[in-house]
Amino acid sequence: MIEFGDQVERLLEGPRPLPLVLAGDPVLRTTAAPYDFSLPGPLWSELLAAMRQTMHSAPGVGLAAPQIGLGIRVAVLEDPALVPPEIAVERDRFPVGFRVLVNPSYESADAAGGMPTASFYEGCLSVPGYQAVVTRSASVRLRCSDENGHAVDDIVTGWAARIVAHEIDHLDGVLYLDRALTRSLATSGNIAELYAGRPMTEIRAALGF
Ligand code: CO
Repeated sequence: MIEFGDQVERLLEGPRPLPLVLAGDPVLRTTAAPYDFSLPGPLWSELLAAMRQTMHSAPGVGLAAPQIGLGIRVAVLEDPALVPPEIAVERDRFPVGFRVLVNPSYESADAAGGMPTASFYEGCLSVPGYQAVVTRSASVRLRCSDENGHAVDDIVTGWAARIVAHEIDHLDGVLYLDRALTRSLATSGNIAELYAGRPMTEIRAALGF
């Protein structure tokens, strides 16, 4: 059994971006362990910077530690929301600054606020080449620590709620495909070629889901 700190040091000795773990690796199907802030400060900072860089270069809007082979409850997210205005409005997708989620959990904010769900295509860096529709809460309550160990208790809405739920699911061994409407499955190429800029109602009609 390799000491966790040694595992991180070895990982960070390797190239950037960090190699992504793909579906089929058991680390993506294992409940990640709570992170106890045991890494020395500089190593922790370097790990987070490497995760951020890896997320950017993919490119992606979220990355969970199991996706770089680490079974700890840590994820990063950042969304520049580089989509056309009408798509941003349909998806309630607006820029989200870089943030670190440590030992996060989420629950639907539906019960408290009667918030609706939202159904949109999403993909995953660990399942390259495909996207599928997932119905998720339009609003979630996020509880975690930030990178400095400070407690966070936030209501997150819109596309950011989708990212938060997707990344925290990774820490519980859940892939978005587990929650997807499988009939909606499409290659990223077909999404771009056939459905770019089209509203969900048209895609539903075209694929019959
Ligand atoms: Co993912």
